[in-house]
Amino acid sequence: MTYKNILIEQSEAILTISINRPDKLNALNKATLEELNHVILEAKNNKTIRVIIITGSGIKAFVAGADISEFANYDNLQGANLAKQGQTLVFDLIQNLTKPVIAAVNGFALGGGLELAMAAHFRVASSHAKMGLPEVSLGLIPGYGGTQRLGQIVGRGKALEMILSASMISADEALKYGLVNYVVEQADLLDFCKKLAAKIAGNSSSAIAAAITAVNANFESGKNGFDEEVKQFGACFGTPDFKEGTSAFLEKRKARFA
Ligand code: COA
Repeated sequence: MTYKNILIEQSEAILTISINRPDKLNALNKATLEELNHVILEAKNNKTIRVIIITGSGIKAFVAGADISEFANYDNLQGANLAKQGQTLVFDLIQNLTKPVIAAVNGFALGGGLELAMAAHFRVASSHAKMGLPEVSLGLIPGYGGTQRLGQIVGRGKALEMILSASMISADEALKYGLVNYVVEQADLLDFCKKLAAKIAGNSSSAIAAAITAVNANFESGKNGFDEEVKQFGACFGTPDFKEGTSAFLEKRKARFA
């Protein structure tokens, strides 16, 4: 597939995906969501990729939301389908991906942009980034998981304040609320994320997959996270990485994971 709306670059085990519609502040149109779905599925099946970074092209925006021009004339059914398809194709796919996804928030992350960042496993922001869910100012609500994930990350009160006021918060405020893990200078953002990614990539990928599955279970209805942890913990004992990791420790050498 030739990508028109995203750029991809692989360096060792790290795949960087840049949403590339800078003249539209990287707004997520249907074509971009389809490309994201495609590249993420490819990355999922590519053993040489161990960590994914998602960012936006240019210095102004990560993603300024879903592309408003595409849905301005939608009716109720089309609106519901837009949310359902987007959630399935991209946002849930990212959250449930068992390879870590880091959002490098390089500017405005609004609406679907913040929802994309929140679907990632964690977020790093540049110091000038601004984040918010402005949908109620458009007569809408967040539809790509924002009403659920924001509360899970920052707590219900702050999530409701942000959603109901439609206001943006600064990177430093986002750090204070735990919405992002770090704030760094724009020029350092990708290097910082790549260093974090490289540290993660050196660990056991099967254990990382098990950890993501166990942590996510806490947020899935009908699942008992503690039971999932027991299941995943047990499954680790049958993996080559467990043999290698424990042998390496006992032999006082660095583990070499496949
Ligand atoms: N959907 C479609 N187009 C968008 C967009 C979106 N979510 N966000 C920005 N754009 C487009 C603008 O229409 C403009 O296109 P044009 O040059 O063809 O007119 C271009 O990106 C630049 O945006 P502009 O508004 O001129 O930049 P700004 O610096 O004045 O303002 C923002 C930046 C982010 C504050 C402003 O673009 C904005 O509020 N965007 C919408 C945010 C939003 O509501 N997102 C949730 C959508 S559900």
